[in-house]
Amino acid sequence: MGPIDEILQPGITETVVTTLSIDGKPNAAPMGIVRQNDSLYIRMFPGSNTFRNVSGTGKLVINIVDDPVVFVCSAFRDLDESYYVPQPGMPPLITGVYAWVYCEARVEGTVRLTPVKSEIVRRRVPRFSRGFAAVIDAAVTGTRLKFLGEEGKKKIREDAVLVEKCGTPADKEAMRRLKEILDI
Ligand SMILES: Cc1cc2nc3c(=O)[nH]c(=O)nc-3n(C[C@H](O)[C@H](O)[C@H](O)COP(=O)(O)O)c2cc1C
Repeated sequence: MGPIDEILQPGITETVVTTLSIDGKPNAAPMGIVRQNDSLYIRMFPGSNTFRNVSGTGKLVINIVDDPVVFVCSAFRDLDESYYVPQPGMPPLITGVYAWVYCEARVEGTVRLTPVKSEIVRRRVPRFSRGFAAVIDAAVTGTRLKFLGEEGKKKIREDAVLVEKCGTPADKEAMRRLKEILDI
């Protein structure tokens, strides 16, 4: 079946999920993949394009990517067409993907995932960065800003300080775009 155990370890893995609408339009959005014992699922809030597409098609692809700009842009806007790599019979991959898992998905409270096919495409040296973690966390906060209000904005400003201190140029660019999108 493939290297799922390496790709999706226990806990929550932050990924970018691709789906197709019923009429074939691609969509990408960051989603946390929960692995708990033998189950794989997403706690997906209804109302997103991803939720609508999964409800309609029952399919999604989990993309393991590390480009902070892809996380930020796909969270708030349509990803540029050039980021999609079309695949026969399944939703597209994201350019630069390290690994992917094509899943059947059933909406049963959470979105329950059954892996169908997976691949590790390329590898890199692990590098832990507080800058990258801060951008991802700020993006999560950004998608919840309507519930979090001023407190959320304050947290994003704190994350921005960490990104300035520890981040790569890509982390800084992603944070700049996030602040622009959220008008912070
Ligand atoms: C790192 C990250 C993880 C996220 N994880 C989830 C998640 O597990 N479930 C969810 O419903 N939304 C999650 N979101 C929020 C969605 O990505 C967001 O609602 C997005 O606008 C949905 O896009 P779509 O309408 O194109 O599907 C996450 C956002 C980020 C930045």
